[in-house]
Formats: sequence, structure tokens, C-alpha cells
Amino acid sequence: MGEKYLKLLAVTFVLSALLYFANRNYSQEKKFEYIGTKKCASLCHKGEKKGSQCEIWQKSLHSKAFTTLASERAKLHAKTAGVEGDPQESEKCHKCHTAGGGLDKSNFAATYSKEEGVTCEACHGPGSVYKSISIMKDREKFLANGGVVPDKKVCLKCHNDSVHPVYEFKFAEKVRLVAHSIPKKE
Ligand code: HEC
Ligand code: HEC
Ligand code: HEC
Repeated sequence: MGEKYLKLLAVTFVLSALLYFANRNYSQEKKFEYIGTKKCASLCHKGEKKGSQCEIWQKSLHSKAFTTLASERAKLHAKTAGVEGDPQESEKCHKCHTAGGGLDKSNFAATYSKEEGVTCEACHGPGSVYKSISIMKDREKFLANGGVVPDKKVCLKCHNDSVHPVYEFKFAEKVRLVAHSIPKKE
């Protein structure tokens, strides 16, 4: 065996080891958890001056999306989807009727509750890290820490008829129905 070959082998070994550890660190990076809406309300997103995000969401059907799974209509959709038993217990239904539906337990903080339905975090991403004011106020930091500024694609993850029939989704029209922008300062 030549010396060159041995050197190459050693280099390959060191590189693989580095890669292995780099990846391991990467997968141990902090994870963003779903925390529920109470923090969003208590922090800022409440009251007319701020844009009443929490009040608007509370009045919208998104906040009722889990309750809806207990309705008579839910039984019909469950049948279409081949879901047996209580739809409120079905991960197949949770996928679009809750935030983070179908993800494993490690994705949820103790304050999360699926009963809250399609929450802020269903559209804006899990907020355990970006909830801190210094991150929230900085768009770049917000986006780097699990935050999402939702576009049509985010809506279409749920507004599609892969599981049961839904209304045709016209983004411009629908987004007006859920709008909650921060009022412009005069
Ligand atoms: C996590 C899944 C999910 C996401 C993401 C989502 N929705 Fe929904 N949306 C639902 C569900 C489920 C309902 C029905 C709730 C009910 O009737 O209980 C609904 C209902 C609605 C309604 C009221 C019913 C209607 O069709 O008029 C509007 C408006 C709406 N969504 C708009 C949007 C928009 C705009 C977006 C993206 C910015 C969006 N949704 C993102 C799941 C989602
Ligand atoms: C792929 C996403 C998705 C999944 C999965 C899903 N839904 Fe829905 N569901 C929606 C959307 C979007 C609406 C809003 C109404 C619309 O746009 O037609 C909705 C509305 C509803 C409604 C109220 C309006 C109506 O059509 O009566 C019921 C009841 C319902 N879903 C039951 C269920 C049940 C039960 C399951 C599980 C078998 C389920 N959904 C799974 C997206 C989904
Ligand atoms: C159905 C999806 C959806 C849900 C649920 C939702 N949002 Fe939004 N949110 C949006 C969209 C879409 C925008 C506009 C994004 C853009 O600027 O293009 C937005 C914008 C915002 C903005 C920025 C407004 C501005 O004028 O810059 C804030 C703050 C916000 N949302 C907070 C919340 C809070 C808090 C909740 C929960 C109480 C919530 N959102 C729930 C879709 C959603």
C-alpha cells in the first residue's frame, strides 16, 4: 500500500468525522415549538391601536376549527375521508383543523392546546423563540427563528380538497376576510 493512499484514507476519515459531528450539532439545534395564542394576546397583538389581531382571529372560523370537528357535518367529512371514530381525536383531521397538527409531541410547549384550532402559529409558524420582542421587531430575526409571513402557499396547505371537498380558494378574496394589519401611524 502506497503512502499516498494511506494519507488519502486518513484525510477521508477526518472529513467524515467532521461531517458527522457537524450534522449532529445541526440536528440538536434549538427547535421551534408551538406555544398557543395566549402569549400572542398578552404580549401585544390585542387592542385597536395594535390592529386587534387576537380579537379578529377569535371571531374568525379559524378559532372554531377544532370545535367544528364535533359537528354533524364533521361525521360526513370523516366518512368521506375514511376516518372512523371521533374526528376530534383524528390526526387526519388535526392536520388542517389545528396548528401543527400531526407533528409529534416534542413540537408543542405545555401552553399549546389543539382546542384553539387554527391559531396564529398555523399561519405564522411556531413561536417559542420569535415571541421575544427583540426578535419579533426585527423581520430578519423573526424569519430566522421560525417566523413566517404567510402567502397564498401557506393557505393552500389546508385550503385544498385532499381530504374533503372545500370551497374554491380565491386568495385575494379570502385574505381580506382574515386581514389584521397593524394600523399605519399618522
Ligand atoms: C392549518 C390549516 C389552515 C391554514 C394554514 C389556513 N386555513 Fe383558513 N381555514 C381552515 C379551516 C379548517 C377552516 C374552517 C374552520 C371551520 O369552519 O371550523 C378555515 C376557514 C377559513 C375561512 C372562512 C371560511 C371561508 O372559506 O370563507 C377563511 C376566509 C380562511 N380560512 C382564509 C384563510 C387564508 C386567507 C389563509 C392563508 C393566509 C388560511 N385560511 C390559512 C384551515 C386553514
Ligand atoms: C387538507 C386540509 C383539511 C383536512 C385534512 C380536513 N379539513 Fe375540514 N376543512 C378544511 C377547510 C379548508 C375548511 C373550510 C371550509 C371550506 O373552505 O370549504 C374545512 C371545513 C370543515 C368543516 C366545516 C365546513 C363544512 O364543510 O361543513 C367540517 C365539519 C370539517 N372541515 C370536517 C373535517 C373532518 C371531520 C376532517 C377529518 C376527516 C377534516 N375536516 C379534515 C380543510 C381540511
Ligand atoms: C389564516 C392565517 C393567519 C392567521 C390564523 C393569523 N394570521 Fe397574522 N397574518 C396573516 C397574513 C396573510 C398576513 C399578511 C402578511 C403580509 O404582510 O403579506 C398577516 C399579518 C400579520 C401581522 C403583521 C401585520 C402588519 O400590518 O404588518 C401581525 C402582527 C400578525 N399577522 C399577527 C397575528 C396574530 C397575533 C395572530 C393570532 C391571533 C395571527 N396573526 C393569525 C395570516 C394569518
